[in-house]
Amino acid sequence: MDLRDVDLMEDTWSTRVPHDTFALLRREAPVFWHDLEGEKAPGFWAVTRHADVRTVSRDTATYSSEAMGTFIADPTPEGLALMRMTLLNMDPPRHNRYRRLVNRGFTPRMIRMLQDQIEARARSIVDAVCEKGEIDLVAEVSAEMPAQVICDMLGVPGEDRGQIVEWTNTMVGFDDPYWRNTPEAGELAAAQIYAYCDTLVEQRRTDPRDDILSVLVHAEVDGERLTHDELDMFFVVLAVAGNETTRNLITHSVQALVEHPGARDELLADPDLWDTAVEECLRWGASIHNFRRTATCDTVLNGQQIKAGDKVVVYYLSANFDEDVFEDPFAFDVRRDPNDHVTFGGGGEHYCLGANLARVEIKAMVRELFTRLPDIEVVGEPLRMRSDFINGTNRMDVRFTPQPASAS
Ligand code: HEM
Repeated sequence: MDLRDVDLMEDTWSTRVPHDTFALLRREAPVFWHDLEGEKAPGFWAVTRHADVRTVSRDTATYSSEAMGTFIADPTPEGLALMRMTLLNMDPPRHNRYRRLVNRGFTPRMIRMLQDQIEARARSIVDAVCEKGEIDLVAEVSAEMPAQVICDMLGVPGEDRGQIVEWTNTMVGFDDPYWRNTPEAGELAAAQIYAYCDTLVEQRRTDPRDDILSVLVHAEVDGERLTHDELDMFFVVLAVAGNETTRNLITHSVQALVEHPGARDELLADPDLWDTAVEECLRWGASIHNFRRTATCDTVLNGQQIKAGDKVVVYYLSANFDEDVFEDPFAFDVRRDPNDHVTFGGGGEHYCLGANLARVEIKAMVRELFTRLPDIEVVGEPLRMRSDFINGTNRMDVRFTPQPASAS
C-alpha cells in the first residue's frame, strides 16, 4: 500500500485496526493531510507519531478543543454551543474551573475507597455467568462493570441503569449498523437522557446524597450555580465516557490475553504482574481512536506547515505502537515497563478524568475472569463496531468450562 490508499474513516475499522496504515504513516508522513469529501470536507491532518500526539495534546493554546469541538465532523452552531458545555470541548482557563469541580470525585484517594466495592462487583458479575459455559462477553461482563460503577457514582438507581446504557449506546453508535440507529435516534436518546438527568437534578437540589451529581448541583463556578444545560452535559459526558470506553477495553483485554496464551499463563503463575499487564492491555486495545483539535494560528508540527483553522486529529493507537518509543511494539508483553501509552490522552489539561477509575475496573474484572475461568476462549470472530471514533467490539462470544458460583 502507499499513501494514496490511506483511508481512516468508518469502514476501515469495522474489521480490524489498520496497523499497516499507521506504520506507513509514522514512517513516511507522520503529519499527513487526509482528504475528505461531503460533510466532513475538506479533510484533516492525521497525527500518528507518539511525540507529536503528545505535543498536540499538551499545547492547548495552539491546538484548541473549544474552537470546533473534538470530533472530526464539524458541528452545527447549535451543536457546538452544547458541546462547549463539556470539559472535553473547553479550553483553559475556563476548562480548569470546571475540571476542578469534578476532580474531587476522581482523586486517587476516592478511587482507592471504591476499590473493594469494584472487586466485589467483579465477583458477582462472574458469579452470574460462571455456570453458563458460553456467553456474549460484551453484554454479560464488559458492559456490566462500568455501567454499575458510573451509575452508582452519578446516583442513578439500579433499576434505571439498563436504560441509561441503552441511551448512551444509541448516542454513540449511530454510525454503526449493529445498533440499527439513525442520527435522529441519537438525538432522541440525547433528549431522553437530558430529561432523565433533569429529574434527578431536581431530587438532588432538595435531597443531596453522597454522589457526584449532588456535588455538581450545589457547586459554583465564578459565584454562579451550574445551569440545567451544564448539569445535563456533565451527566451525559460522564455516563458516556465512563461506559463505552471501559467496556471496550475490558473486551479487548480479554481478547488479547486469549490470543496470547503465554502471557495468560505468566499472569496466572504470578499475580503480581497484573499491574503491568493492565497497562499493556491499555496500550494494545485503546478504545478511542482519536480526538480532534483546531489550529488557532499558523504553526509547524514535525516539519509540516499547518494553517490557522486546520483540523488536527491525533491517533492514540498509532502512538501506542510507535517503534521510537516501544521496544518490539507488536509483542504483547505483560511485563512491559515503562509503558508510556497514550490511551488516556497525550497528557496535559485534558488527560482522562477517569483513568484511575478505569484501571481499577479493568484490573478487577479481567483478573476475576481469568482466575475463575482460566480456560476461557473466544468463539468465532468478535463483531467490531463500525466507527472512526470508538475502537469498539459489539459482541464477543466466549466459552469456558462451567464453574460453581462463589460462596459470597
Ligand atoms: C479505558 C477507559 C477510558 C479511556 C480509553 C478514556 C480515554 C480518554 C481520552 C483519550 C481522553 C482525552 C481527551 C482529549 O485529549 O481531548 C479522555 C478524557 C476524559 N475522560 Fe476518559 N477514558 C476512559 C475512561 C473514562 C472514565 C471511566 C471516565 C469517567 C467516569 C472518563 C471521563 C473522561 C472525561 C470527563 C474526559 C475529559 C477530560 C477533560 O477534558 O478535562 N473516562 N478519556
